[in-house]
Amino acid sequence: MTTRETLAQQLTRARERTLRLVDFDDAELHRQYSPLMSPLVWDLAHIGQQEELWLLRGGNPDRPGMLSPDVDRLYDAFVHSRASRVDLPLLPPTDARAYCATVRSRALDALDSLDADDSGFNFGLVISHENQHDETMLQALNLRAGPPLFDAGSALPAGRAGVAGTSVLIPGGPFVLGVDELTEPHSLDNERPPHTVELPPFAIGRVPVTNAEWREFIDDGGYHQQRWWSEPGWAHRQEAGLTAPEFWGHDGTRTRFGHIETIPADEPVQHVTFFEAEAYAAWAGARLPTEIEWEKACAWDPVAGSRRRYPWGTSEPTEALANLGGDARRPAPVGAYPAGASAYGVEQMLGDVWEWTTSPLRPWPGFTPMVYDRYTEPFFDGDYRILRGGSWAVSADILRPSFRNWDHPIRRQIFSGVRLAWDV
Ligand SMILES: [Fe+2]
Repeated sequence: MTTRETLAQQLTRARERTLRLVDFDDAELHRQYSPLMSPLVWDLAHIGQQEELWLLRGGNPDRPGMLSPDVDRLYDAFVHSRASRVDLPLLPPTDARAYCATVRSRALDALDSLDADDSGFNFGLVISHENQHDETMLQALNLRAGPPLFDAGSALPAGRAGVAGTSVLIPGGPFVLGVDELTEPHSLDNERPPHTVELPPFAIGRVPVTNAEWREFIDDGGYHQQRWWSEPGWAHRQEAGLTAPEFWGHDGTRTRFGHIETIPADEPVQHVTFFEAEAYAAWAGARLPTEIEWEKACAWDPVAGSRRRYPWGTSEPTEALANLGGDARRPAPVGAYPAGASAYGVEQMLGDVWEWTTSPLRPWPGFTPMVYDRYTEPFFDGDYRILRGGSWAVSADILRPSFRNWDHPIRRQIFSGVRLAWDV
């Protein structure tokens, strides 16, 4: 398949997914489920607006587009906070859909005239952006009160007994952190450039921490013992009144996209803050990994002395290798993907839950901002922690072992979970 064909397919897949997530009546699309999230109709038009900006307006917001400047500005994420978007004079859903469709048809025309040897970086950026907003919309829909809009999600492979709580030794030594445009043409600025890093040996969880393990932390009084918590973590735990992951009830149930169900013991815990993850790790006699450790455990092949494209090798992700794409609407039980293990034998690194690391967002040495220079750079030195590996809601089209996500340490409406690490 040519690059152009691949990009066209990925654009179409992302759009089909977006349209499924906004296939509701106008009132629903204008609702704000939480001040943390935008109304869905904002995300919809913003997806089109960014696509127009990057593919049809050369990334220059001063270059006239299809929307009037006033309307165009409504969709600038840096101008309007999520909490305020519900009060903006947003495009009605019908207009937003029509706008997105017009932009898309012109974007496909632009794709047709792409040189055969061009990697189409901006197209990759737009595909990544749309899929990332699809995940954001899933976060919003999960916060929605009321009867479910979706079924409980597609089937997942069964887990394996005996893997929860086990660890894998990652021997010390150098590895290559980060990627370049030759191996990963659509990698973003913050993933580049590749450079050699020396790490001491460490151990890392074979699989993410499960709900059953988290339950032990709760039952042992973990949420009420300050000694497990950092100072800011404890202050937040007190202020927010945290006593369990978000969406957990008191009766062994949880709410997920409106469905009330028994908490599955062997599923990776999700909807925890960085602060909770850190406290859990301390209670468990462990720590969280750094993002550099995480990437080594995920991508490095110590026998070949090189990076793998995916933890398991070079083949594209499939349903047998990782839980991605969003249809499951939940993580898979631990041990569900033995074939998806990394060279070291670490499992479920891609998909299922985003994994908190101790690392703040910093540039790799030699960082150069990409064409969309506000994607990463404004967030350096902010109050963020890196999350790695993607969740069940991430599209396989945009995920790489080098992909870096970040959020505030108090956030947990995101599909965030925990993998432990240990000094050895
Ligand atoms: Fe965006």
